Amino acid sequence: MNLKITVLAGDGIGPEVTREAINVLKAVAKRHHHKLELDYALIGGIAIDRAGKPLPAETVAACKAADAVLLGAVGGPKWSDPRSKVRPEQGLLGIRKALGLFANLRPVKVFDALVDASTLKPEVVRGVDVLIVRELTGGAYFGKPQGQSGRPPAREAVDTTQYTEKEIARLMRIAFELARGRRRKLTSVDKANVLATSRLWRAVAHEVAAEYPDVQYEDVLVDACAMHLIRAPKNYDVIATENLFGDILSDEAAMLAGSMGMLPSASLGEKLNRHGYRRGLYEPIHGSAPDIAGQGIANPLATILSVAMMLRWSFGLEEEAARIESAVERALNDGLRCKDIASPGATVLGTKEMGAAVIERL
Ligand code: IPM
Ligand code: MG
Repeated sequence: MNLKITVLAGDGIGPEVTREAINVLKAVAKRHHHKLELDYALIGGIAIDRAGKPLPAETVAACKAADAVLLGAVGGPKWSDPRSKVRPEQGLLGIRKALGLFANLRPVKVFDALVDASTLKPEVVRGVDVLIVRELTGGAYFGKPQGQSGRPPAREAVDTTQYTEKEIARLMRIAFELARGRRRKLTSVDKANVLATSRLWRAVAHEVAAEYPDVQYEDVLVDACAMHLIRAPKNYDVIATENLFGDILSDEAAMLAGSMGMLPSASLGEKLNRHGYRRGLYEPIHGSAPDIAGQGIANPLATILSVAMMLRWSFGLEEEAARIESAVERALNDGLRCKDIASPGATVLGTKEMGAAVIERL
């Protein structure tokens, strides 16, 4: 297979972690005789510095020309002045929208070897395997009007949460399909006791649920879900929810797995690539971690696992994907850790060493 991939390394630790993930990808491609065609483009703060905007048109074109996109992270203190007109995060939101990536898959799977890395009790987190399916191109992130007006002491600001039934239905369908490939349980999360968008969400979710009688379905309010996620996370299989709730719940759920440094994600849309699979964007769920950028200590495993998701969802290469995932698991079972997940006495590796350790175990 010819795998045409655009890499958006971005800011902070983005370039360090994507480098290791690409090395892993190269090793897997070589072993399975796939041809890699890599293209690099700018996004985020580095794009602001070099091209004057967080998402240059060439970047969008390069991503549209690819079968899949690998992204590191965007943002950093250098570009975080709230008064500035351009922000790195606009690049990330812009590329999600430009590629129509409305479904964000965030699997939270707790590796046995990392049960002790969580702040929660081992019996609560052992065996957790949740898939959060977050709507990614609607809701408060994109609703209009949005903005601030007025002068002190009369400033005001507005954000708009908006959803169409089409946006809700297509997200729910993907979530139900995914549930069918898992434990057949789907939890739809909303705030229907307060928000109109949530009441529409729930109504449409029920209509779609009727098409999937083989999947056990439940509604949970977002505040209750936040509680249950740390009380009894094993009760969840697939969680489907809107953009902002998914953003918040996925960070919370990440802590079940011990560290944000462990969690990959896939953002998928309706568009198929030339291999007939969904064209997607793959990224670790952690941010650019400016405090440790350039030190060679960032954990590359989330990005490496994102590459595994890419092989699975954008290329249908299940065997290759599973090979990467089990190599990561074996590295962890051998006691290898990056600083973020290290327990006392563990062998602490840097970014490059962890990448190499995974390649050795492929
Ligand atoms: C995420 C991030 C982004 C989001 C930020 C960086 C804009 O938190 O991918 O979860 O809110 O979607
Ligand atoms: Mg987030």
